Amino acid sequence: MSRRIIPVADLSAAPVIAGPVQTPRGVLHDTLSRPLRDLRISVTDRCNFRCVYCMPRAVFDKDYAFLPHSALLSFEEIERLARLFVAHGVEKIRLTGGEPLLRKNLEFLIERLAQLTTPAGRPIDLTLTTNGSLLERKARSLKDAGLTRVTVSLDALDDTLFRRMNDADFAVADVLDGIAAAHAVGLAPIKVNMVVKRGTNDGEIVPMARHFKSSGAVLRFIEYMDVGTSNGWNMAEVLPSADVVTRIAEQFPLVPLEAHSAAETAQRWGYADGSGEIGVISSVTRAFCGSCTRARLSTEGKLYLCLFASSGHDLRALLRGGASDADIATAVAEIWQGRSDRYSQLRGSQPADSGEQTSRRVEMSYIGG
Ligand code: GTP
Ligand code: 5AD
Ligand code: SF4
Ligand code: SF4
Repeated sequence: MSRRIIPVADLSAAPVIAGPVQTPRGVLHDTLSRPLRDLRISVTDRCNFRCVYCMPRAVFDKDYAFLPHSALLSFEEIERLARLFVAHGVEKIRLTGGEPLLRKNLEFLIERLAQLTTPAGRPIDLTLTTNGSLLERKARSLKDAGLTRVTVSLDALDDTLFRRMNDADFAVADVLDGIAAAHAVGLAPIKVNMVVKRGTNDGEIVPMARHFKSSGAVLRFIEYMDVGTSNGWNMAEVLPSADVVTRIAEQFPLVPLEAHSAAETAQRWGYADGSGEIGVISSVTRAFCGSCTRARLSTEGKLYLCLFASSGHDLRALLRGGASDADIATAVAEIWQGRSDRYSQLRGSQPADSGEQTSRRVEMSYIGG
């Protein structure tokens, strides 16, 4: 592979470091001019749920080969990488899984990451996506460790349906208690993510909207996606976000809201009576690759440039091979500057349920949602 010269942009905000080697820093842009702003770090590939659309039990059974502990990045390794990414323009870090709260002593990692500041001296937005099952127990310690906010996944309020969807017999009440605990300790704003599968839980759209309206939490409806290769995705099970909005608006009038930022995944809608907002994430019917600023670090330290990528760049090999900070920062810059991924935009022209690439795509539980 030919080595490219790394233009290091926007050095103005970076403090001058004395010494012979200066770690490359500054905002990076890919081949489509998209800056690197968000880093999603998967801290475990394990989960205590077996959601039918993510970790179907038939595939993720007792014989499934999860990563051994030695393969996982240590907290020191994660912190070191995160620091280099922040120097390169990352402003938001999301911890994901699998289920991140299953990673032992996660609070220690959060304490370290919460210390990171952008080159301009601002704290980073440090958040986490959880299924909520352990949140009631952990909310206080997560907050104390420096977590800013949480996003909780919840696909139904109907307990029978929810148990069927998580396929691990977890009750809705456990998750609602977790959300209440997060609220009580101030892990705000709380977002609740609901994956909508037509014919499975679309009957829950309005009850979920009713429940979270006025609660202070932002409920977001996610189109069921063709991630990984094990969930048997088909387009017939996708309910377009436009239909979600129509169904809710029939009960509770909605008004469109401005995006907080161009890179936001969700389109925002406000309740006309001022009692809060919802979001819709339309990754299938209205791809948002054009503004995708997200990189994903897998549990074993591979850097993925797209949720639908089939391979990642091995940063663990650099970490464990004695690479300096400057080497790693340069490698990250080179990788991001070569990025051209925009899977969802191309989905129409490259059918998702056929072809070679599909068979090699990574699973969402491995790379993080
Ligand atoms: P906020 O900062 O709270 O707005 O978070 P976010 O929307 O960036 O992240 P979150 O993990 O809440 O994303 C919600 C869901 O949107 C994920 O579980 C995915 O289903 C989907 N999603 C997030 N990022 C991407 C992405 O880069 N590409 C695609 N196709 N879907 C994404
Ligand atoms: N489609 C859309 N979102 C998914 N998630 C997992 N699998 C899928 C899928 N096939 C997301 C959900 C969940 C998070 C952990 O990952 O939002 O809340
Ligand atoms: Fe676990 Fe989240 Fe996947 Fe469900 S969607 S199996 S809770 S990682
Ligand atoms: Fe980003 Fe890939 Fe998702 Fe497009 S499909 S928004 S490029 S992660």
